[in-house]
Amino acid sequence: MNTQTLQTLAQQFRADLTTVTSADELRELEIRYLGRKQGLVTELLRKLKDLSIEQRKKIGPQIQQLKVEITAEIENTESQILNFRSQISVDVTLPGEKIPVGHYCPLTTIRRQAEDVFRSMGFMVIDGPELESEYYNFEAVNIPAWHPAREMWDTFYVRDPERDKEMKRQGDEESNRLLLRTHTSAMQVRIMREFPLPIKAIVPGTVYRNEATDARHEKAFLNVEGLLVGKGISLQHLISVNRVFLKKVLGDDVQVRFRPGYFPFTEPSLELDISCLICKQTGCSVCKKTGWLEYMGAGMVHPNVLRAGGIDPKKYTGFAFGFGLDRLVMLKYGVDDVRLFRSQDLRFIQQF
Ligand code: DAH
Repeated sequence: MNTQTLQTLAQQFRADLTTVTSADELRELEIRYLGRKQGLVTELLRKLKDLSIEQRKKIGPQIQQLKVEITAEIENTESQILNFRSQISVDVTLPGEKIPVGHYCPLTTIRRQAEDVFRSMGFMVIDGPELESEYYNFEAVNIPAWHPAREMWDTFYVRDPERDKEMKRQGDEESNRLLLRTHTSAMQVRIMREFPLPIKAIVPGTVYRNEATDARHEKAFLNVEGLLVGKGISLQHLISVNRVFLKKVLGDDVQVRFRPGYFPFTEPSLELDISCLICKQTGCSVCKKTGWLEYMGAGMVHPNVLRAGGIDPKKYTGFAFGFGLDRLVMLKYGVDDVRLFRSQDLRFIQQF
């Protein structure tokens, strides 16, 4: 064994290193040269004991040096492999990760469908404030403060100290308090004041009630108000517009029934029922075995409301109606509890 032997081994190692293409091969190479049992360098170290003291002193440090160099080169190559791996460790042949995509709540889907149907009949779709003044929600639609009908529409009142002060200054403390609107009928008078006749509008939006909730009642729900005012408008128009709408949304099989009703803002007033699509009128718990479901209130706009909107009731007439969109969606899909819509329960919402 001499310096030449070491040089040859060093060259051989470098040549072998160039053929390494993976971490496993590198590990094999390391064992081949530095392995404790049969490593080529280890072997040389073992053979040292056969040499004379002089030779040992000369060649010993050279073998150690070679060992250090080989160790360093292996480590260096290993870190290169790791580095490379971390850069390209994406297996592009794997199928992509599925990103869950949401969809509209059925209330939104049907609201949009309702808007489209009414638009196709020439109605404007109008938005309004959910925090409404007592005036527009009640007084403007012929429900003065003393009126017992206020009882049916109890809601949440909101105090604004600045506004209160202003109202007090104007000597009008009561009628302009703020409340969460109980119906989108609150937009009737605003619309009459804002737009020229004839007026055709619907107002979809969330409304609020102080309600003991149950399967049919929620403290917040989507309400759709409809309003049509012009010359010679009659109940016949009200009936046909709503028939067309319901057949478009619920299908041709739906039956519609009108009953006399009472609302302070219409005269005469009607209630509209629709045939129970859940049991096909054979009687079920949803329709309480009657085959019919209460669906909306409607009527001819009361002269007081027209006047509040700046319209002469002697020259013009109009009809108005209001329905709960939640109820419509319940009927369409056979949902038996209105509270599910706002329950945030994915098991419910993913069914649509
Ligand atoms: N606003 C009524 C309610 O929420 C529904 C309603 C009834 C609206 C009759 C109308 C109407 O425009 O004429 O219960």
